Amino acid sequence: MSKIFEILKKEEKRQREVINLIPSENFVSEDVLKALGSVFTNKYAEGKSHHRYYAGNQYVDELEDEVTELVYRAFDIHKDEYSVNVQPYSGSIANIAAYFGVLNLNDEVLSMSLEHGGHLTHGHSVSITGKVFEFEHYGVGEDGFINYDHIQEIAKRFQPKLIIAGTSAYPRNLDFKRFKDIASSVNALLMADIAHIAGLVVGGVHPSPFPYADIVTTTTHKTLRGPRSALIVSRKNLSESIDKAVFPGIQGGPHMNAVAGVGVALEEALKPEFKEYINQVVKNAKALADELKKLGFKLSSDGTDNHLLLIDLTPMGLTGQQASDKLEKEGIIVNKNMIPFDTRKPWDPSGIRLGTPAVTTQGMKEEDMIKIARKIKDILAKP
Ligand SMILES: Cc1ncc(COP(=O)(O)O)c(C=O)c1O
Repeated sequence: MSKIFEILKKEEKRQREVINLIPSENFVSEDVLKALGSVFTNKYAEGKSHHRYYAGNQYVDELEDEVTELVYRAFDIHKDEYSVNVQPYSGSIANIAAYFGVLNLNDEVLSMSLEHGGHLTHGHSVSITGKVFEFEHYGVGEDGFINYDHIQEIAKRFQPKLIIAGTSAYPRNLDFKRFKDIASSVNALLMADIAHIAGLVVGGVHPSPFPYADIVTTTTHKTLRGPRSALIVSRKNLSESIDKAVFPGIQGGPHMNAVAGVGVALEEALKPEFKEYINQVVKNAKALADELKKLGFKLSSDGTDNHLLLIDLTPMGLTGQQASDKLEKEGIIVNKNMIPFDTRKPWDPSGIRLGTPAVTTQGMKEEDMIKIARKIKDILAKP
């Protein structure tokens, strides 16, 4: 057997055997894998549908049109108001393309800080985004919740061109209407980065960013349960420059096999079973949070509304790295994460982030979450 397939077999086994609580991961269906491994990988398709630089794209065009249609249906939006770009290779690229589509170099942007739950591409200094635009950050209050009055104050002083509503490690719902009111009050555009919560939005268990956001970016591989790819939805007047930022600005030929996989995932997300699944994701996260609290763990914002939760390990005298290592040895995979107001550094922060999308795909329910919480407690309590 090829060495690569040997490694692949080992990874399959690892994924089967561990309890995966990484909130940004999931298990895709066999059909998504089939589309990803399909002959669409052989095709160059630079340009958008029906405007290609290469010949032989009649079925690629049909595919891109169909996936675009599925995006409209999944988010319940209309093509007269919004345009869709299904080509970004990943969430990071989607964000960078969105910025380059609507901003000039050094323009002001207001977003959530990484330390309080934002993403690197929301202007962190180590990301290209933080080097070419002028970012200021908002965060959460002492209670772990976003303080919208504070965002309003910063926006008034900072006068950003763009405000980003979006998070990687925030366990509570986002109030997109409030974000829009703040953005409108300073004439800023509003971008929602729903990479983490896209599946919750499609399944109706998190408020939609539509019609408030001018731009919505998302990954497709987290709660949406598709392949590693991304989408940009934007108001019609912004779409031409955003499309140009994707190609030829940043990317070359789109990965049409990934776009096919996104289409399959969206077809699945439009079925009633997905609603049940995503409801269970949220129920499981609550059950996990409740049991962890009963066992004495300190949770950021004291709980969760969505698919993830953050544990502050400071009272246990453990760091995020130590906890993650201990849990991994016993087959529980989590990720170390900064907690709001963390005094430690990102490579060994004070917290861990847990999520339920993957274990819910495997069919786990609330009673399993209670068992997992107890197991986490036992493992971390051991010297
Ligand atoms: C909110 C948010 N935006 C963007 C990204 C980037 O996505 P990718 O890893 O596909 O580049 C992530 C990934 O973790 C994310 O959480």
